[in-house]
Amino acid sequence: MKPILETERLLLRELTPDDFDAMFEIFGDAETMRYYPQPYSRETLEAALQRQFKSYAENGYGLWAVILKSENKFIGDCGLLTQDVDGVQELEVGYHINRQYWGQGFAPEAAKACFDYAFDTLGRTRMISLIRPENLPSRRVAEKNGLRIEKKVLWRDLWHYVYVLTKE
Ligand SMILES: CC(C)(COP(=O)(O)OP(=O)(O)OC[C@H]1O[C@@H](n2cnc3c(N)ncnc32)[C@H](O)[C@@H]1OP(=O)(O)O)[C@@H](O)C(=O)NCCC(=O)NCCS
Repeated sequence: MKPILETERLLLRELTPDDFDAMFEIFGDAETMRYYPQPYSRETLEAALQRQFKSYAENGYGLWAVILKSENKFIGDCGLLTQDVDGVQELEVGYHINRQYWGQGFAPEAAKACFDYAFDTLGRTRMISLIRPENLPSRRVAEKNGLRIEKKVLWRDLWHYVYVLTKE
């Protein structure tokens, strides 16, 4: 499948139904999902995948598969999500990486490509990431890409920082 984005070490392409098992290794894992209300069930993940397929069709973007080029391996997802934050439609960069591949800078590398895509290809001028204060690894990813905390919001019943990156 044709990649949407390429970085030094990664390819980002659309998710397919064949990615379900590799996605479930991430979303079904309690340690990985510790900052979420709970790990996803197979049914919840199936619904989440279907939402991405719908988003590709409607918007041309969504969460994409992250492929490690050197191993030709699916290691996570990263991409663009439309979120309602206090009644405002915002475009978010989100990411989830398989625990075996944490700590090698893959999330910030993939996220940077998504921010660049949103600014340069989609013409956006403001992007966000919604991150729970306790999720220090994710906050580091945002900070590595230069995002700044704008405010704290109750989002889906949990406090989140709204990290923002803008382009003039
Ligand atoms: C957040 C996440 C995507 C970061 O991915 P990554 O590719 O490991 O990112 P990085 O390599 O830049 O590491 C980011 C930070 O994670 C922490 N970290 C690194 N290795 C780690 C490990 N083995 N275990 C726990 N935390 C670790 C470090 O604080 C690191 O910051 P540092 O580089 O300044 O030391 C990953 O931890 C993850 O998938 N978490 C679960 C899903 C999630 O919470 N997504 C974000 C929702 S807002």
